[in-house]
Amino acid sequence: MRRFPEGFVWGTAASAYQIEGAVRADGRGPSVWDTFSHTPGRTRGGDTGDVACDHYHRYPEDIALMQALGVGAYRFSAAWPRIFPDGRGRANEAGLAFYDRLVDALLAAGIDPWICLHHWDMPQALEDAGGWRNRDTAHRFADYGETVMRRLGDRVRHSAPINEPNVLPWVAYDAGVHAPGARSRGETLAAIHHINLAHGLCVQAVRSVDAAIRQGPIISLGPVHPARDDAAHERAAEWVDCLWRRVMCDPIMLGRYPELLAEELAPHIRSGDMELIGGRPDFFGLNHYNRMYAAPDPDRIFGVKDVPPPGDVPTTEMGWQIDPTALVEQLDDLKQRYGDMPPIYITENGAAFDDRVGRDGIVDDRDRVAFFSGYLNAVLDGIERGHDVRGYFVWSLMDNFEWAEGYAKKFGIVHVDFDTLKRTPKASFHHLARIIGDNTLADFEPIRPVR
Ligand code: FCB
Repeated sequence: MRRFPEGFVWGTAASAYQIEGAVRADGRGPSVWDTFSHTPGRTRGGDTGDVACDHYHRYPEDIALMQALGVGAYRFSAAWPRIFPDGRGRANEAGLAFYDRLVDALLAAGIDPWICLHHWDMPQALEDAGGWRNRDTAHRFADYGETVMRRLGDRVRHSAPINEPNVLPWVAYDAGVHAPGARSRGETLAAIHHINLAHGLCVQAVRSVDAAIRQGPIISLGPVHPARDDAAHERAAEWVDCLWRRVMCDPIMLGRYPELLAEELAPHIRSGDMELIGGRPDFFGLNHYNRMYAAPDPDRIFGVKDVPPPGDVPTTEMGWQIDPTALVEQLDDLKQRYGDMPPIYITENGAAFDDRVGRDGIVDDRDRVAFFSGYLNAVLDGIERGHDVRGYFVWSLMDNFEWAEGYAKKFGIVHVDFDTLKRTPKASFHHLARIIGDNTLADFEPIRPVR
């Protein structure tokens, strides 16, 4: 039997566009994801977040599920276009009121709300003005963050500016598979710096609301390996490491850009920017899914891409390798690069599997059960090695809109029937409820993928 530390934070995580639906309710403006998902060919099956899980209306039911799971925290994102439908100007009261209701309902249920201010659903009006290519967007973002926290900051005591600022330029401006679907080196570089700047400006703005609100980045990281053992692949791994991991972690943790990109980024940097971006966060949100494998690709704008794991290894439905030792390696790597880290929270971890609803209505997702047991053992391994991991947020409470993959990829521990919107807890939900309730992993936890 292995115990988690006293006070370990258990939570679930989700994001606005992936679950809320109600895209036209109460004055919400269009976001880049509304535009992107309604553009033919951009998402699998043409799926959109128009309805999603309808969490906007069904949040009391979802909070009741979290209560049944036994979590003490919920990481959610606010939808920027609900608060600033046109990206600027006066805040939309009805949008703020929704998050007010959500936060109050969470607190009444004994669940601590953790906010992520931006999870990729930028107001379309700001995209029309250049999006992250435009330096001004960083200022618009800080205004938005301050507005939200002026309203919620008396009750929401943990805040992260932007979900995965490292993944965003990669998928949205380099690979072009997420909104707005750009593919340009210049635009990627501008986005990298402006997103980092937005992080720094927002931290400062929220601090002006209340310096005691705990703020930290949420970054998705995993060890990066060359997909093959040769010089070209090693070079590719160096680039993927730089573009995926270092380009956001280095400025925040060290106050500078990695050497490989420093020269190209220099034209975007103004005096004082790096001081604004850098500075020890109050916590470090680590999203972790998998090891990454790098390969050269002349068709990509930096000449590199990430590829499926080589060899016959277990993977999830996303093709992501299942190997909990990668989490421990990633924790070691952070310590090696940045020294003593602030308290770390695993702010996302989870897996997509091809769940089936049995005739009895039960979703026996034993792959996911094994996945969580393996990764939670790895969290404890990390803690035993001296890493200050203070919490774990499951991605995700419910099946939801998985971006370009639409509803085809299911990460939930609760099954959602997208015709009726009925929620049904899966076996993994009950499994986690037991672990969370006992704050303990039992010796019999299954740790191998079943397939
Ligand atoms: C992360 C995203 C999250 C979800 C998971 C599977 O990169 O932050 O929204 O899509 O991957």
